[in-house]
Formats: sequence, structure tokens, C-alpha cells
Amino acid sequence: MGEQVEAPGRALVALVTGATGGIGAHLCAELAAHGYTVVAADLDGERPPGARHSVMLDLRSGESCRAAVEETVEGFGSLDLLVNNAGVNARGRTEDMPEEVWGGVVDVNLNGTFRMSQAAYRAMARRGGSIVNLASTGGLVAIGGSAIYGVTKAAIIHLTKVLAVEWAAVDIRVNAVAPTIVPSPMTADVLDDAEYMAAKLATIPLGRAVSPREVAAAVRWLASTDAAMVTGHTIAVDGGVSVL
Ligand SMILES: NC(=O)c1ccc[n+]([C@@H]2O[C@H](COP(=O)([O-])OP(=O)(O)OC[C@H]3O[C@@H](n4cnc5c(N)ncnc54)[C@H](O)[C@@H]3O)[C@@H](O)[C@H]2O)c1
Repeated sequence: MGEQVEAPGRALVALVTGATGGIGAHLCAELAAHGYTVVAADLDGERPPGARHSVMLDLRSGESCRAAVEETVEGFGSLDLLVNNAGVNARGRTEDMPEEVWGGVVDVNLNGTFRMSQAAYRAMARRGGSIVNLASTGGLVAIGGSAIYGVTKAAIIHLTKVLAVEWAAVDIRVNAVAPTIVPSPMTADVLDDAEYMAAKLATIPLGRAVSPREVAAAVRWLASTDAAMVTGHTIAVDGGVSVL
């Protein structure tokens, strides 16, 4: 038995948000390599390698989220996997954090995950489906310096559990992946900061950053039939940070 993703007679359809970002592009390639028809969704509407189709998506709009799901189902016949990967970060001290920046991160990370999941429910309920959310180590343990990021990721981990319970009856599994630092545009500002990186890597028992492919592999496994009895779970892809 391997990583079976084929349903009888048709390729499974995956919708990946934040698809042109650092991790999103690897998600598209990984899922396509394992037989999925991949629809890439991002603000720019670009199509990364592996994706069959791309849609413009702004997670801050419920209408945009519903349209992305509808375009996917109309174009490819179903939605079998939603990867809520898009996200934003805002670093800074909480005492200085402008309220609109705080609210903006909530609107994309948490509210966007809610909007996309709600839209996907309508396509997946009773037909079967899987949702995988991108959380973060920052949602599992308290990391100073970007409170709102960690708070939204902790909320996503809890939303993952609640939706798993609510939607099990309609055959939708909901899981999450929580990586520690991954080289990507989101982390570009700190990757060249030798002092920051030395301190960061010192907190990781396995002593290195996570590759985007390692994140994509965990997402793919959670979505696969090998994980058919796994729901509500968050896999930490973090070299051991969160068990310290
Ligand atoms: N890079 C890391 O170290 C790391 C670690 C843990 C978790 N994550 C999570 O992984 C996911 C992907 O991160 P990444 O490192 O690839 O970041 P990234 O910045 O490279 O990509 C994020 C993507 O989200 C898109 N996006 C932002 N706002 C959007 C909106 N309103 N509507 C639609 N799309 C929007 C961006 O256009 C971008 O392509 C995020 O949820 C992030 O929080 C990243």
C-alpha cells in the first residue's frame, strides 16, 4: 500500500491558497507529482509549476473565497483537498503594534481560513474531502516578537480540532501542519541575519530550518488515504521545538 490519492476513475482535485509563495509553490509541485489536479490560488493569480489552473484569491473577501471554490468545482468536477496555506506575519513588540496591523493578520490568517473552509464545506460535504491548514510552531509554543502571528496560528490549531469534530459526520477530515522556520519570502528578512538565525537554530533540537518540501510531504500524507483515520490533528514539522 502506498500513497494512494486516486479515487476510482478520476484524479483528486486540490485547491492550494498562497500558491505562489515559498511553501505554496512546493505544495503545488508535490501534490501534482502525486496525481492531484492542482488549482493554485493567490492574490496575483499566477500559476506555479505543477498547477493545472490558477485563480485570483483575496482571503479578506468571502465572495472571493466562494468564487475560488466554485471555479475549481466548475472547472474540474470536485474539490477533494483544500490546503489553507496562505498567511501573513507581522513582527514587532505587542505594546507598539498598531491595531489595524493586528486586525489585518487576523483577517487573513484566521478569518481567511474560516472563509475558505466554509466555502469548501459546501463542495465537500457528504462527497468526502480533506482540509489541511498551515499552522506554525508559533501556534504551539509562545515565541516573543510576533504575538499576533502566534495567536492566529493557535486559533487555527483549535479551529482544526473543532471543524474535525463538526464535519466528521459529512466525511470531511481537517488537519494541520505546524512547521518551524522555513526559508521563504515570509522569512527573507531574517534569513540573512546571522545573529537571529544562530539563536533560532539553537532552539531547534534537530538544528536546522525546515525545507518547504518537508512541509509539503506532511500535507500530502495528511490528505492521503493512509491518514484516513487522522482528523483534528496538528503535525509539528519542527525538529523537536514544540516538545521541549
Ligand atoms: N516560512 C516559515 O518559516 C513558516 C513557518 C511556519 C508556518 N508558515 C506558514 O506557511 C504558510 C506559507 O508561508 P510561506 O513561508 O510560503 O509565506 P510566503 O509569504 O512565501 O507566501 C504566503 C502567500 O500567501 C499569499 N497571501 C497573503 N495574503 C493573502 C490574501 N489576502 N489572499 C490570498 N493570498 C494571500 C501571498 O501572496 C503569498 O504568496 C503561511 O500560512 C505561514 O504562516 C511559514
